[in-house]
Amino acid sequence: MKNMKKYIVAICGASGAIYGIRLIKALMERPYHVIVMISDGGLRVFEHETIFNGQSPLKDFLALEETKFHDDATLEVFSQHDMFAEPASGSFIHSGMAIVPCSMKTLGSISSGLADNLITRSADVCLKERRPLILAPRETPLSLIHLENMTRACRAGATILPPCPSFYTFPLTIEQLCDTVVARILDHLGVEHDLVQRWSNR
Ligand SMILES: Cc1cc2nc3c(=O)[nH]c(=O)nc-3n(C[C@H](O)[C@H](O)[C@H](O)COP(=O)(O)O)c2cc1C
Repeated sequence: MKNMKKYIVAICGASGAIYGIRLIKALMERPYHVIVMISDGGLRVFEHETIFNGQSPLKDFLALEETKFHDDATLEVFSQHDMFAEPASGSFIHSGMAIVPCSMKTLGSISSGLADNLITRSADVCLKERRPLILAPRETPLSLIHLENMTRACRAGATILPPCPSFYTFPLTIEQLCDTVVARILDHLGVEHDLVQRWSNR
């Protein structure tokens, strides 16, 4: 695990847990160490939207999504309360963090430097250490407060990547539609993929 690429995926209590799950699936199909953080709100919305609950809803859902785990891939799951987890420290090296979906509450905390749980602290660390931080904020419509928080986070170094799916590749299923967003997140994490056909007019 020492020399493996490490990625962090956090799922917050905004609608669209499936985006986070599809991202984790894509990462787990590669030889990466994937660190997952699920907020309390994220778990509730996840269970509501996916009908999974019980001991390991994430693993159950990854199984349903027919994830072909890479032999060398490893998964570590943390609650938002585990402030002793490694990503809470700037000395922990990783290749990037994505918060997908990101609630307006978590966005607000990050943009004001309120590192009060493992997710917001890890994001805060990304910004101070200049590591990739991708936020997929989900709300509609957006208030001025939401917009200003996005601007602040963007100025501090985060990539604001709203989960706005695209249709020009003619997705036929919800999964394909979600992957139009996941593909852009992978691009920004520097992960090679062929999840979605790239645009070409030739
Ligand atoms: C079914 C459901 C859907 C929600 N969808 C959103 C959403 O799309 N965006 C958002 O900002 N909050 C949404 N919320 C509210 C958040 O879950 C709530 O603000 C929570 O405190 C966020 O905390 P967290 O960021 O720590 O997960 C939703 C709540 C529920 C119950």
